[in-house]
Amino acid sequence: MTGFEGRVAVVSGAGRGIGQAICRALARRGADVVAVDIVDPVETVGMVEAEGRKAVGLTGDVSDPDDVRRIGQQVTERMGRCDILVNNAGIYPAKNVFKLDYDAWRRVMAVNLDSQFLMTKAVLDHMCEARWGRIINITSNSVGLALPGFTHYIASKMGSIGFTRALASDVASFGITVNAVGPTLSRTPGLAESVIGDGALQHVSGLQAIKRPGEAEDVVGTVLFLAGDDSAFVTGQTIMADGGLVRL
Ligand SMILES: NC(=O)c1ccc[n+]([C@@H]2O[C@H](COP(=O)([O-])OP(=O)(O)OC[C@H]3O[C@@H](n4cnc5c(N)ncnc54)[C@H](O)[C@@H]3O)[C@@H](O)[C@H]2O)c1
Repeated sequence: MTGFEGRVAVVSGAGRGIGQAICRALARRGADVVAVDIVDPVETVGMVEAEGRKAVGLTGDVSDPDDVRRIGQQVTERMGRCDILVNNAGIYPAKNVFKLDYDAWRRVMAVNLDSQFLMTKAVLDHMCEARWGRIINITSNSVGLALPGFTHYIASKMGSIGFTRALASDVASFGITVNAVGPTLSRTPGLAESVIGDGALQHVSGLQAIKRPGEAEDVVGTVLFLAGDDSAFVTGQTIMADGGLVRL
């Protein structure tokens, strides 16, 4: 596994949960980090600085084109480059299709999928100039599960996989790879706030080959591999870091 000294990583949804774990791990390996979140990611900034790396915390909604334009400008002004983009921000409000209205559908699509396109556009010039880049989109292993109440979520996360594959073709000649990582149900603040209870967590982890609930840190190793030099020939790929639930 290579080090990340001299690299700048931009991570969305970085204030807590999986995004925060990714920021800390990248910093521990030597990257400077831009932590982006709709809520001021002050705790994550502190964690990155505690690893001795430069940290910039930006507050904004990554589904909002104006906010993302501002985020892109801030990345340029304060870091001057972006080598690694982790599109992690996501929401998962369960709602049966009979109760799901268009606004709720659009919100999930916007936060989980539109944001990955917007954030990519915001930093892509830096990667093209450097002729090196790593884009990692966080999807979900739920795309392969029969889960009632998640039409919007699963459609957005399948969309993320499609976006990953197609984008890989467009940017490969610039030395940029694009891959997706799918966690399993994982114990994060977002999951604790959701209607997905402990019963579902135990049920899903029981189906995995590795029979324990996922933690935010379980996603980190795959992201580090895809963010480094060692994965240079891997692109358009989706890796489920999900304790082996993918085998079903
Ligand atoms: N936790 C799980 O069980 C699980 C499983 C599979 C996939 N995932 C995916 O992993 C990612 C992270 O999930 P998590 O469980 O760590 O979530 P979380 O809710 O604990 O953290 C998500 C962070 O994203 C931020 N965020 C939400 N909307 C935003 C927006 N519009 N703009 C900027 N920031 C925004 C939140 O403020 C929060 O800090 C999501 O994409 C999620 O779909 C999670």
